[in-house]
Amino acid sequence: MAQAQARDLPSGSEENIVPEKIREGVDLLINGERFRHTGDPKMPLLWYLRDVLRLTGTKYGGEHSGADLVLVDGKAVPALGQTVASLAGKRITTVEGMAATDGTLHPLQQAFVDEDAIGCGYCTPGWLIAALDLLGRKPHPTDDDIDQLPVLCRCGCQTRVRRAIKRAANGGKS
Ligand code: FES
Repeated sequence: MAQAQARDLPSGSEENIVPEKIREGVDLLINGERFRHTGDPKMPLLWYLRDVLRLTGTKYGGEHSGADLVLVDGKAVPALGQTVASLAGKRITTVEGMAATDGTLHPLQQAFVDEDAIGCGYCTPGWLIAALDLLGRKPHPTDDDIDQLPVLCRCGCQTRVRRAIKRAANGGKS
C-alpha cells in the first residue's frame, strides 16, 4: 500500500517543496545563550525576559525601582526601558546568569545569603545586578557608592545590603 502511494506522487513533486523562509528577527545574547525574537521589535526587554523566555528573576517594580535591572555589556540598565531591537548583538546578563552552571552561587549571591540581606526578595535581583556593575567599576566601594545604587528596598534591608556588597568585595569575608 505504501509503495502504491509513493508511485502515485506526481513526478518532480520534490521540486514543488518550497523551504520555509527563515524568519527575520532580533538576535539576542542572554546569559551566554542565543535567542531570536521574531515578534514586535519594540517589545521592552523586561516582558521578553519574563513572558517569552520565562526568566522571571528580573522584576517589574515600576520606573526607578531598580527591580528590573539587567547588565547590558557590563552596565546595569532597566530592562523596562530597553526595546528588544536596541539590544541586538549586545551581551545581556540577568540574575539567572550569575550562578555557575553547577549551581554554585556567585560570590555576591553568597554574600547576600551570608549577611541575610534578603527580606521579601523582590528587590534582590536588582541589587545583585547593580552591585555587579559597581564592583566592576569600583572593586572596593564605599557606603556612599552603595547608597547611590538605583535600587529601592521597601523591606529596609539597605544596611545588610551594604554589608553584603562589602563582604563580596572583601573576598567573602565580613
Ligand atoms: S527585600 Fe523586600 S523590597 Fe527589598
